[in-house]
Amino acid sequence: MFESLRAVPADPILHLSVLYRQDTNPKKVDLGVGVYKDETGHTAIMEAVSRAEERLLVEEDTKAYVGMAGSKRFCDLLAQVTLGADHKVLAGKRVAVAQTPGGSGALRVLAEFINVAKPGATVWVGNPTWANHIPVMQSAGLTIKQYPYYNSRTRTVDFEAMLASLETDTKAGDVVLLHGCCHNPSGADLNLEQWQATADLIKAKGLLPYVDIAYQGLGEGMDEDAAGLRLMANSVPEMVIASSCSKNFGLYRERTGTAIIITSTSINASLAQSQMNSLIRANYSMPPSHGALVVETILADPKLKQMWRDELKIMRKRITDLRSQLVDAIKAEGVEQDFSFIERQRGMFSFLGVNAEQVDKLVNEHSVYLVGSSRINLAGLNQHNIAYVAKSIAAVL
Ligand code: LMR
Repeated sequence: MFESLRAVPADPILHLSVLYRQDTNPKKVDLGVGVYKDETGHTAIMEAVSRAEERLLVEEDTKAYVGMAGSKRFCDLLAQVTLGADHKVLAGKRVAVAQTPGGSGALRVLAEFINVAKPGATVWVGNPTWANHIPVMQSAGLTIKQYPYYNSRTRTVDFEAMLASLETDTKAGDVVLLHGCCHNPSGADLNLEQWQATADLIKAKGLLPYVDIAYQGLGEGMDEDAAGLRLMANSVPEMVIASSCSKNFGLYRERTGTAIIITSTSINASLAQSQMNSLIRANYSMPPSHGALVVETILADPKLKQMWRDELKIMRKRITDLRSQLVDAIKAEGVEQDFSFIERQRGMFSFLGVNAEQVDKLVNEHSVYLVGSSRINLAGLNQHNIAYVAKSIAAVL
């Protein structure tokens, strides 16, 4: 049976880590996969996480199964972190929440949930979007279409084109995938006025907003980064949200995320919860526990929570500073092309805006690893490699 199988091309993002590890060039720089790195190039465990783990080692007294939706306490806390504690959809009990294996797990659970509610529904994703959005949605049975998002000439969101496409191309019951903040791969986000205009259109046309927020806290702040989705949740009757603790708690391999379904009534929220739980049961049965226990330990303890917020602030500021430093370093190489857009974008990513041949040279001649689309992870820069990266960019331009 298995001789009919064909090999699948390597993952365009994750495979970069393999290539980077194999490279023997001492000057190699990893700007590929979206993980935060500190000044030494290390993805360290956050201090608040270590403290919570120490506490769990003493206090955790069972490894019995958790439920299909994971820890109720985690789900309640994460719904508040994402939507804001006083959001009207929480007061109205209009939410169903499940702890999931990472943000990707949440994306898949929600895609399957949509496919139950409307088999084969069309999901409109921005062009570009995170490369894995498309296979995740398709493997749940959904149909993918694209709306224009990033204008590579102005290096900003092409909002007029985006809105025009959503207005004319979509039909009632279609789903619109939006990035909550820190757009992956472009770093170009909607401003609040644009969120509101998008929410108005979605409501008027009877579309379902599907917000992926994988980088909350890495842009402007935990509340600031969620402002767009909170506004959306205020404006529409139904919505789904996939959120991740991979980046803002540094829990990547612990696979900790949340699937949130907002419904028009509290009765529908119970129906949605039972449907979501049943999909989870038929898939992975229940989520892994450890990462969520760490997160709820931190969020439920004011001291640990403050420690985590302070650490996150340092991470966020480092990325913002690196954005300015890269722009300056490229300028210092005598490059006339304007790269200042990198400073105006947010989160871990920006497109360099170089072509495929230049990306190839950066990787193969300079050992500067970036995604084929020219996406760089700013957090991979540090004081030891930033001048080298700028020099390499200047060399390939
Ligand atoms: C990325 O975009 O680099 C991250 O979200 C990691 C991944 O799984 O692709």
